[in-house]
Amino acid sequence: MNLVLIGMRGSGKSTVGRLAAERLNWHLVDTDEQVERSAGRSIPDIFAQLGEAEFRRLERAAVADACARDGCVISTGGGAVLDPANRGDMRRNGLIVWLSAPVELLAERIAADARTGAVRPTLLGGSPMQELEELLRRRRPIYEAAADLVLDVRARDPVDIAEELARLIESGGADGRRGS
Ligand code: S3P
Repeated sequence: MNLVLIGMRGSGKSTVGRLAAERLNWHLVDTDEQVERSAGRSIPDIFAQLGEAEFRRLERAAVADACARDGCVISTGGGAVLDPANRGDMRRNGLIVWLSAPVELLAERIAADARTGAVRPTLLGGSPMQELEELLRRRRPIYEAAADLVLDVRARDPVDIAEELARLIESGGADGRRGS
């Protein structure tokens, strides 16, 4: 069993993932980091030099590798759920949790992240707010359909969220997901 965190940029996947992994004493796998490692360059460089399609191909390999493991908290890039093969892998051996947040909160968090310019390439263009709104509009139904559990992260401390997720895993709640 793995715990797979999905959601938009700024939803807190990396922070919650790190805390949940520490709490459960599980490995943390960040698919963005795996992609950077396999390409030997940063995500913005991959987008700029190799293009988004190549990024998605590398991301696909990172998700497949991560999901083949066990006892991992897997923090995924915001667009990883777009590939049905990724969703299939996540679902087979993982509890999928969507960290959901309104667009205003995502924008606020992204703006407050000093690394934003360096680590987050533009995907659609337009103003950052327009891009976020459009991405969320397109992705919301995909996140919703993929998730076993949706957590609204608004006004919640990442430590509390990680604790809730750890308890869910420990209680075996993950086994009863989707009624299967
Ligand atoms: C992306 C999100 C990023 C990273 C890449 C593409 C997306 O990850 O994978 O820039 O398509 O939303 P984070 O969600 O960790 O920022």
